Amino acid sequence: MDKKDGSQLIRGLEGVVAAETKLCDLDGKNGRLAYCGYDIADLARQATFEEVCHLLWHGELPAAVQLDKTTLALIAAREIPRELLQTFRLMPKATDPMRALQAAVAMLGMHDPDATDNAHAANLRKAVRLTSQLATAICAHHRIRSGQEPVAPASDLSHAGNFLYMLTGARPSAVVTKAFDASLTLYAEHELNASTFTTRVITSTQSDLHSAVAGGLGALKGPLHGGAGEAVMRTLLEIGEVANVDAFSDKALAEKRRLMGFGHRVYTAGDPRAAILKGLAEEACRQSGQFKWFEMAVKLHARINAAKKLIPNVDFYSAPLFYSLGVPVDLFTPVIATGRIAGWTANIVEQHDDNRLIRPRGDYVGAGRRPFVPLGQRGA
Ligand code: SDX
Repeated sequence: MDKKDGSQLIRGLEGVVAAETKLCDLDGKNGRLAYCGYDIADLARQATFEEVCHLLWHGELPAAVQLDKTTLALIAAREIPRELLQTFRLMPKATDPMRALQAAVAMLGMHDPDATDNAHAANLRKAVRLTSQLATAICAHHRIRSGQEPVAPASDLSHAGNFLYMLTGARPSAVVTKAFDASLTLYAEHELNASTFTTRVITSTQSDLHSAVAGGLGALKGPLHGGAGEAVMRTLLEIGEVANVDAFSDKALAEKRRLMGFGHRVYTAGDPRAAILKGLAEEACRQSGQFKWFEMAVKLHARINAAKKLIPNVDFYSAPLFYSLGVPVDLFTPVIATGRIAGWTANIVEQHDDNRLIRPRGDYVGAGRRPFVPLGQRGA
């Protein structure tokens, strides 16, 4: 739709290039994805989440000494202020974990010594701190809302292993840790998706990293974005058994129901992350004796793809994977945030380092210009 001055309305900014970035190379037509030039399949299989954080923050895979430094900095930053734990105890028990997390990030900004410093080095220090603290906050809130005491971080476990430990109180196996670690890598960064773009808009006003991440959490929460994973699992729970998939699919298609986990704004040929997560989900569902969730997902994928040519996106197979790893369903989106904070903070650093205020236009389609009418003359 062309505006009067010839500029064009592009709904949802579809296809609009809003920034140059060195972080993520997303080829939607061919279903390919790379972080700083490294293919996502190689990173998911051969790198740890700590290596991927370093890659996104510094642009290069770390050598051993650099990886130790980043790993130790992440471990050192795992504690959260006791005031935050007290705040979790004051929240209504039914508080949505994503709302609790948004409040937590705002509070962590109140306690961060670099909170209002947007310099490159300060932003990198905050990126490390908040990446670690976010994981601890998610698990502490969950334990407190469940009537349990928070589990203190274990300094001998990796970021992924420590998350599962703080969540459940049990030290996870190497296989489970690797599957969860790969999930965090797969969710770490994805170009200008809605939540990352939100962090860039906030950053472009020269606001600060904690404010930008709090905004990103608000965007990620929505079911059209990060909230889809939880919705996929609720769909599988609604279906209940493999034998019910056909009847469910027929009804959903007849009702033109929007099925979460399917479709993507950019990928047309397929989401490369879904293919990797499918393999991780198959292994984890088999290991945990919950194979039916994987079987149901595969059958639903086939039915919906055959009927509507819709591809499964990253959130489709991460749902049975997270469920089989013992993640509560309403913590799926916080878990996605646990990975995506690496990409958000890397984008925030990149935006601050080469900034211009982000301010698109609106095309006015309201009432024409008209004289003011005093209150007494406005009729009933
Ligand atoms: C993520 O952007 C990113 O990179 C996001 C993400 C990341 O890593 O940050 O990849 C993570 O958010 C993945 C997407 C998670 N969301 C969902 O699974 C929600 C369900 N998906 C859809 O709502 C939809 O596919 C979107 C929101 C993902 C994309 O929407 P678009 O590009 O605006 O496409 P659309 O809604 O205009 O749909 C185009 C057509 C429509 O058909 P018509 O009305 O034109 O006939 O496809 C249909 C839609 O009805 N369609 C679906 C569908 N998704 C699209 N029909 C049924 N079920 C669906 N899920």
